[in-house]
Amino acid sequence: MRKPQKPQQAQQPLKIGLGIIGFGTVGQGVWKHLSASKKAMESRMGVKIELIGVCVRDPEKKRGVQIPRTQIHTDPGAIIDDPRVNIICELMGGTTTALDVTLRALHQGKVVISANKALICEHGARIFAAVSKHGGQYLFEASVAGGVPIIKSLREGLVANRFSEIAGIINGTCNYLLTRMEKEGLAYETVLRDARRLGYVEADESLDLDGVDAYHKAVILAFLAHGKWVPRASTLVEGIRAVTLEDIQRARDFGYRIKHLAVIRRNFAKGHMTLGVYPALIPLDKVLARVDGVYNGISLTGDVVGTTTLVGRGAGQDATASAVIGDIVDAIRALKGAAFKFLTQADLDSYSALGSTVRMAGLDEIQTSFYLRFRLRDKHGVSAEVYRILAEEKISVSRVIQYENPGTREGTHTLSTYPVTEAAMENALRKFRKIRTVLEPPLVLRIFNPEN
Ligand code: NAP
Ligand code: HSE
Repeated sequence: MRKPQKPQQAQQPLKIGLGIIGFGTVGQGVWKHLSASKKAMESRMGVKIELIGVCVRDPEKKRGVQIPRTQIHTDPGAIIDDPRVNIICELMGGTTTALDVTLRALHQGKVVISANKALICEHGARIFAAVSKHGGQYLFEASVAGGVPIIKSLREGLVANRFSEIAGIINGTCNYLLTRMEKEGLAYETVLRDARRLGYVEADESLDLDGVDAYHKAVILAFLAHGKWVPRASTLVEGIRAVTLEDIQRARDFGYRIKHLAVIRRNFAKGHMTLGVYPALIPLDKVLARVDGVYNGISLTGDVVGTTTLVGRGAGQDATASAVIGDIVDAIRALKGAAFKFLTQADLDSYSALGSTVRMAGLDEIQTSFYLRFRLRDKHGVSAEVYRILAEEKISVSRVIQYENPGTREGTHTLSTYPVTEAAMENALRKFRKIRTVLEPPLVLRIFNPEN
């Protein structure tokens, strides 16, 4: 007779402890949505998830998401060094304390999940080296394009490709501002107030308005696609402060919409690349021209797939929380032993090999079409002077529209050009500044004609 078998002891599910450093727009979104989906995630993944605590500057601040006071700390160490915590979400922003927090957690081999594009852009190389040295993980899907899974797409779905162009709208605040100004005729300041209230704007809003946030994100994409950390000095970084309601209307007269774009181009034959972020005119019928409000849209042109465009919410609590939670799920899989590790030494070696084969193009190698808007004194020969300078720089004009400004002795003269080098346009601008009948420096915007 066989002996009766002892009942098998049910295996305890693996405990995952999670701490959040920074409990503002994004941090609260992550806590709120994780609390709501925790049970379902636990049963799907076979783990027990514990939300251990958060860290803030001001523990008494009123917040939309309420949690017990005992779980709110002001010392990041209380979260990072807690032995129950294996995943730390760095959602505080900035590049000083956030760097210390990140390295302290990585040195303990923990998982860090971040939405902090400024930090990655400035200190990515150091952070990734710490990952590789100490065996932790660093995941940052939320750092670019909010809820759009662009980093996963580059690393996984589109990995077969070499990208000649990655271009898109990657700052939600700028897109929200330009869209509402155009569609509702609202003033910049009015729309900016709404963007702040909705949680789209960075704590330092000049990062959004001056194009720096888009630059940070573009640098991350360029690193993932081309293995190069592009220094600020080799890029064109412009924001949207100079764009007026009038410009938005004039652009439409030419058949374009104004969008704030990031454009990363790689010329494989010449071995160079360019990275720029700026407001640009896009033909009305293109997909990117129709990406509105807080939405982001990124078109990637790869040698195998052709052009693929991803569109989704680029900022705000829920979209960003969605990306952070996606990373949490990947981290849990890894903690359970799945063979997942992004940024191994082998990854880093392959990125640096890739990056060593490309240089940044000079201004005389970058060709673009431009739109120019001049305010001119109403005097004979004024536009002739403008055209003389354009001819001197071999800049060829494709279209012109002239507007009278009734009741004044001024006119607005707008024109578009055929492709010319950035260097030629810079020379022309220097000369325009010296003409006394040009009443202010002309507004110069690039014209971008994407694949689809
Ligand atoms: P936020 O609303 O300003 O929240 C920042 C949080 O960090 C606050 O809770 C703040 O505490 C805390 N904090 C700041 N410095 C701290 C310090 N030295 N010690 C402890 N706590 C500190 O910012 P957010 O919009 O959530 O953005 C967070 C990060 O996500 C940033 O890197 C941002 O670029 C990125 N991001 C934001 C969005 C978005 O749509 N908002 C989208 C994608 C990525 P107090 O609350 O006490 O002040
Ligand atoms: N301030 C950023 C934006 C948040 O408006 O795009 C998302 O990264």
